[in-house]
This record gives sequence, C-alpha cells and structure tokens, in this order.
Amino acid sequence: MKIDLLSPETFAAGQPHDQYQWLREHSPVHWHEEPAGRGSWAVTRYEDVWTVDRDFQAFSSEPTIMIPDAGPEASGAFGPYKMMLMMDPPDHTAFRKLIRSEFTLPSAKLREERIKALARQIVDAVIEKGECDFVHDVAGEMPSCVSAEGMGLPLDDGRELYKLTEIIHTAPEALPPGSGGQAVAKMFEYGSKVIAEKRARPSDDLASKLLACEVDGRKLDDMEFLLFFLLLVDAGGDTTRNLLSGGLLALMEHPDQFAWLKADLDARLPAAREELLRWTSPVIYMRRTAKHDVELGGARIREGDKVVMYFGAANRDPAKFDRPEVLDLARAPNDHIAFGTGPHGCLGQHIARIEIDAMLVEVLSRMDRFELPSAPEWLPSNFISGPKAMPLKFRPGPRLG
Ligand code: HEM
Repeated sequence: MKIDLLSPETFAAGQPHDQYQWLREHSPVHWHEEPAGRGSWAVTRYEDVWTVDRDFQAFSSEPTIMIPDAGPEASGAFGPYKMMLMMDPPDHTAFRKLIRSEFTLPSAKLREERIKALARQIVDAVIEKGECDFVHDVAGEMPSCVSAEGMGLPLDDGRELYKLTEIIHTAPEALPPGSGGQAVAKMFEYGSKVIAEKRARPSDDLASKLLACEVDGRKLDDMEFLLFFLLLVDAGGDTTRNLLSGGLLALMEHPDQFAWLKADLDARLPAAREELLRWTSPVIYMRRTAKHDVELGGARIREGDKVVMYFGAANRDPAKFDRPEVLDLARAPNDHIAFGTGPHGCLGQHIARIEIDAMLVEVLSRMDRFELPSAPEWLPSNFISGPKAMPLKFRPGPRLG
C-alpha cells in the first residue's frame, strides 16, 4: 500500500481510510518520510493516539502542533511568544485557566437560546430558494456568527475572519506562496483594532475579559492577546463547519440511518451527533515532539522525533469500536477522540455540540428532499477535513421569521 498522509490530494475526497486501515494493521507507529522535512511517526491506533495525547511529559506540543517545522511558531516568527495550543504544562495550564470558565458546560448552555435563534435565521436565509451552497451559506455561517458574538464583534467581521481561518488551514502547497502568512497578518491587524476598541469600551465579551485578566500577576500584552484571538477564531471555525457539512453528506450517503434519525430527531440527536463526530473527525491530526527516547506501539522513538496523532484513524480502530466502518447513529458507547483528550482536549467542545445540535435540528426538521447537483469539493488540506463547497438542492419551505 502506498502511504502518503501529506499530499493534499490524499485528502481530496475525504480521509484516506484505506491507508489508515493498512497502517493500523501493519505499521501502527509508522515512519513517514517528508519531501521537505525530517520525517515523522504516524500514529493510527486508538490506544497509541490516546497515550500520546495524554502523556505531555514524553510528547511535547512545543514548538508546534503542525507537521512542517516551517510555520511561524516553529520558525520563531512570533519571537518568544507561543499560542496556548503549542505550550506544555505548566505554562499551558496557566493560560488555559484564563479562559476555561468561559467554555464550561454551564457557560456554553447560557448561549444555547441565542445559538438556536441564529440557526433559525441561517435556515430562514436559504429555505425559500430551494438551493444553496451548504458549506458557505449554512454550515460556515454558524461558527462565524458564534465566534464573532462571543468576542463581541459584528457578524460580518466574523464572516471575514472565518475566510482567513480557511486560508490558514489550507495546505501551503495548494495556495499561492505567502497566502497563509498574509492571512495571519490580516488576523493580527484586525485583532489590534479589537484591542484598541475593547480597551476603550470594555464589555461583557470574551475579548474584553481576555484583556482584563491576569497571568503571573500581570495583564496579557498585545501579542499574547493576538495569539489567543487567533486560536479562538481559528479553532472553532472550519472544524464545526466541516462537521456539519461532512455530517449531512454522511447522512445523505446512508439513507436508512438518515430516516432513522429523522423519525425521532430530538431523542436520537445526541447519539447521532457523537457518531457523526467519530465518522467525520474534522481535525485530521495533531503533532507532538518526543522529549526523550520512548517506545510506542513497538517503535523506538528518539528524542526530538515528530509524532503525529491521526484522530480519524483512531476513530475507526476495530480494537476500540465494534464495526467501525459502519455509520451507526445509535452507537453506544462511543468514546471517539474527535475532540482530542488530555491537557489540550478541545476547550470548545460544549459550544461545538450546542452549535451542531441547533443547526442539525433546523436543517433536518425544516429542509427536505436533499439532492447534490454535483459532487462536493473537499478542502485541499492534510490538517482539517471536510467539503469546501457543497451545492445542495432541497424542497423549498417557508421562513419562520
Ligand atoms: C466539531 C467541532 C470541533 C472539533 C472536531 C474540534 C477538535 C479539536 C481538537 C482535535 C483539538 C486538539 C485536542 C488535542 O490536542 O488533544 C482542539 C483544541 C481546541 N479547540 Fe476545538 N474542535 C471543535 C470546535 C471548537 C470550538 C467551537 C471551539 C471554540 C472556540 C474550539 C476551541 C478549541 C481550543 C481553544 C483548543 C485548544 C485547547 C488547548 O490547547 O488547551 N474548538 N479542538
């Protein structure tokens, strides 16, 4: 089996489950050459991914969680500054603590009614037309609006920031040179305006709270705020969008399961949503770097080696899931690892679940007779998986206002 988990083409029609299966069976901790790098270990079994994600003493998130060492974090473009996602405890613990309370289940629940109202408006905007680009017009709208509102920004600005996120998450090979760096620079330029605005007129939003909070007895400086801003806008955008688009596609490809879900949507949605998370696994990988020599899944990993966890592969591991290749919306238990685990486990998972549920309820209860006039186009990314465009036809219905 030819193994290539780096080329964007490998992910051009979804995640490479044939390669994942071969790797889990024959080389679960696999040395993967890189055309322009020093190579990395690809980890595909659930148990090993779990171990790497939790053992921060052996597997560091520094200097970066991306495979190439050329990104701004690893190349030192941010100077001594690091994004929380790329820190180890105790620094990571201190930074995560600053915003943890904003992302607990009770805090997320406080936003539930507003998120449901947004979902209703998003479907209202397309329902009379009987056609839309589901990724752009529906799935992408939800996280752009939620992230903008959370930060206390105009919704249109949220949409612009979300476009930048998409560029940042696209493989550099698939973009004109320098596009990723320019997108980060634009994000920072916007973030700097947010700093000025929120310092002048603080409010009850997350941006104002971040500017007011203290780490080690001092306020965050501008760069620390900007890296938080980048992380929070980035992490909740195309991940949630891809779950929604990839999830609807999976339902359309499994009509029996789709009908089962619709027959009792409210009761069946929680289990179905978890299965769609397992099935789509929107975050393809996170990288760690070995802090010392260590053995994993029979491989001898050396200090400094890159170790890459493939969440989509772990989520189809037959050692963990019964008939993992079957979409079973009633699956229980379902200990998928689509949100990661350990110290960096997804901070936004409660908000994400509320967004997903609100959107799926609106889409599945109000839109009907879905048809794909052309094949969905997938994101050319080896990092984030999902359709990039998904033209969709459906039976038109009334707005709810
Ligand atoms: C379906 C949607 C989502 C998926 C699949 C997802 C997945 C992930 C994954 C795999 C990680 C890395 C975990 C690890 O290394 O163990 C992560 C981290 C993170 N996610 Fe999410 N995420 C989603 C939505 C969100 C949302 C809506 C937010 C809200 C802002 C968010 C914020 C974060 C943050 C801040 C981190 C970094 C946590 C840390 O470093 O401590 N995510 N997410």
